[in-house]
Amino acid sequence: MEILSYEKIRQALSGVSFVRKVVYSPLTGSTNDIARTLARNQAPTGTLIVADEQTAGRGRLGRTWWAPPGASLLMSLLVRPTLLPLQALRLTMVAGLAAVEAIEQENALQAQLKWPNDIWLNGKKAGGILAETALTGDLLEYAIVGIGLNVNVDFSEQPELASLATSLMMETGQRADRLAVLRALVERFAAWYAQITSPQLHAAWAGRLATLGQAVCARVGDSSIDGLAEAVDADGALLVRSPDGTVHKLLAGDVTLRTKGRLTFQT
Ligand code: BTN
Repeated sequence: MEILSYEKIRQALSGVSFVRKVVYSPLTGSTNDIARTLARNQAPTGTLIVADEQTAGRGRLGRTWWAPPGASLLMSLLVRPTLLPLQALRLTMVAGLAAVEAIEQENALQAQLKWPNDIWLNGKKAGGILAETALTGDLLEYAIVGIGLNVNVDFSEQPELASLATSLMMETGQRADRLAVLRALVERFAAWYAQITSPQLHAAWAGRLATLGQAVCARVGDSSIDGLAEAVDADGALLVRSPDGTVHKLLAGDVTLRTKGRLTFQT
């Protein structure tokens, strides 16, 4: 197992001006929690937290995010964007695009996104994004963009996960350099973050969504909607047309892709 360090991360990020402060923890509860504490103590935009292991890693919808020590990228970026709460999904767009572009830059792989926050390789989940925000008045005060990317995780011994989850290593057959992926990801994050309200960000994100054009089953609260995932609106909501022609706007919830009526993937 290759363990990171503050010095190694700093060196890997040399010249990346977006990152103003780095915090490394070999073992922590959740990098998003460290980021929140720092945010409340006036840490600057561009604060990066990286861990080798989390004991309370969180996913969306209250799920646990599990990762073996020293094999993933477990990171949170604290940013202070000028955004309305309604536009918060734009942070997930930035992070999702950054992740797929970094994966492709550093490995001979093609990556996709599954709405709203999954990073996908060959139809399996290779990572996820958890953006958490705090408000001040009508605007975001800060946002914490947590990213978990399965870099060198081996799921082959875990049959219940292996059908759903994968890693860069499992797809290429060789270990990837976590620090190189980290650098590429932060660089691409900075580039897209600079255009956070632009139509180009939305178009690039939509172009990466494996969900679009697919028959989906969306669970929202207690109800479910079957239909065609037609588009995403400017704020990232998924537009699903049900057979009676009604278009449903989904802001959150679970979306399952269907193939010939069978479930093919479930978050
Ligand atoms: C999801 O797929 O539901 C999102 C997973 C996000 C996991 C990352 S790991 C680093 C950061 N810290 C956390 O506790 N969660 C995010």
